[in-house]
Amino acid sequence: MKIEEVKSTTKAQRIASHSHVKGLGLDENGYAIQSSAGLVGQELAREAAGVVVELIRSKKMAGRAVLLAGPPGTGKTAIALGIAQELGSKVPFCPMVGSEVYSTEIKKTEVLMENFRRAIGLRIKETKEVYEGEVTELTPVETENPMGGYGKTVSHVIIGLKTAKGTKQLKLDPSIYESLQKEKAEMGDVIYIEANSGAVKRQGRSDSYATEYDLEAEEYVPLPKGDVHKKKEVIQDVTLHDLDIANARPQGGQDIMSMMGQLMKPKKTEITDKLRKEINKVVNKYIDQGIAELVPGVLFIDEVHMLDIECFTYLHRALESTIAPIVIFATNRGKCTIRGTEDIVAPHGMPMDLLDRVMIVRTLPYSQEEMTQILQLRSETESIQIEDESLQQLGGIGVRTTLRYAVQLLTPGMILAKINGKDNVGKEEIEEIDKLFFDAKASAKMLQEQEDKYLK
Ligand SMILES: Nc1ncnc2c1ncn2[C@@H]1O[C@H](COP(=O)(O)OP(=O)(O)OP(=O)(O)O)[C@@H](O)[C@H]1O
Ligand SMILES: [Mg+2]
Repeated sequence: MKIEEVKSTTKAQRIASHSHVKGLGLDENGYAIQSSAGLVGQELAREAAGVVVELIRSKKMAGRAVLLAGPPGTGKTAIALGIAQELGSKVPFCPMVGSEVYSTEIKKTEVLMENFRRAIGLRIKETKEVYEGEVTELTPVETENPMGGYGKTVSHVIIGLKTAKGTKQLKLDPSIYESLQKEKAEMGDVIYIEANSGAVKRQGRSDSYATEYDLEAEEYVPLPKGDVHKKKEVIQDVTLHDLDIANARPQGGQDIMSMMGQLMKPKKTEITDKLRKEINKVVNKYIDQGIAELVPGVLFIDEVHMLDIECFTYLHRALESTIAPIVIFATNRGKCTIRGTEDIVAPHGMPMDLLDRVMIVRTLPYSQEEMTQILQLRSETESIQIEDESLQQLGGIGVRTTLRYAVQLLTPGMILAKINGKDNVGKEEIEEIDKLFFDAKASAKMLQEQEDKYLK
């Protein structure tokens, strides 16, 4: 059975609570479009986020921090993810939640440091001598095994590479045949082979094969221009954490990873501070030589009030270092005690000195109209049919309770509608579902009224 013949019955994308967010939805002047890219309203916060994106792109913001502050369900996490989408895949974005630092196995600061380094990218440019082209021929030539016996071994491999200019036939070492197999290179693929290391890289399928199958799981690339044998600029995007890992567990790979690996002592199993320092040194050298370029990305710490004083102190120091990402915090707390202290009450549960460094972006509660729009977006992503009137009604519930609660009622509403033998969610379902569940505020109120009936 071939995969091309199988029609998948599951949805193309899993539905997560933010999967409708595709960007920040700003116009070319940086103003927020009321409803665009999956975001609705919250214009000022989105415009501020747009400025942050610009600062990151112009690389003027390393080591700075932004705090998204606002009541629950006002879109802080959604906006942070919008920033990630705007930055694209080439700028590292590392999301974490404050409570992730608490583990019995790893130190808190170690978790923070690891995520810090995940958020710092390095773009490495190398000029390599390569053979590049579309594979037109791939024949392993076998000979009798020189050790005797019945088996045959590959003595060399003949490979044909085609570019826009012409075709060249190469006779290569059998070790390259293994690399070719590892990369799963086949006829019709565009590959390049590094001249001095013999490393093979498959770039994708030649676009003359583009309409071969219905299921487009392939990346199609144009036929390379120029000669087969040439100098080529190869760009690699890695994060500092990738380099840490590669050197902690040397695997003898190709490219820069192993080149850096060779510089350090092999057989390390743990990422130590010393190893990181060592890597920073090499990275700085590469930057000075112009081979590598630092790409400060974003470290997003959601629920930042979960961090304790020790973490805050560490963060404060880390932000001062020369290699630092942009840090975006988010919190829904007002004044509260800083974790790990007895009685230091501070805004957002963050120490004042750290707070002093950050730029604060506020998110405000939504109006009923905006809630209805967001609910509409969500019902579309979750493929739930719902009448306009019921959406309005849910928006009203959202104003009374919270946006998140209203969003969460969509799916149960659909289930009720199905039970009632209907295709779309109507007024009755919303009313019924609203009676079945309690939101946080209503539940708290009820607890207070009936305090004596509950155990303490
Ligand atoms: N402006 C918006 N446009 C579209 N969807 C939104 C918007 N704001 C929030 N949402 C959606 O509403 C839900 C709740 O928002 P989100 O999780 O971002 O809130 P939050 O401010 O992070 O809340 P908390 O403080 O509880 O973490 C999410 O599904 C989110 O995608
Ligand atoms: Mg959140």
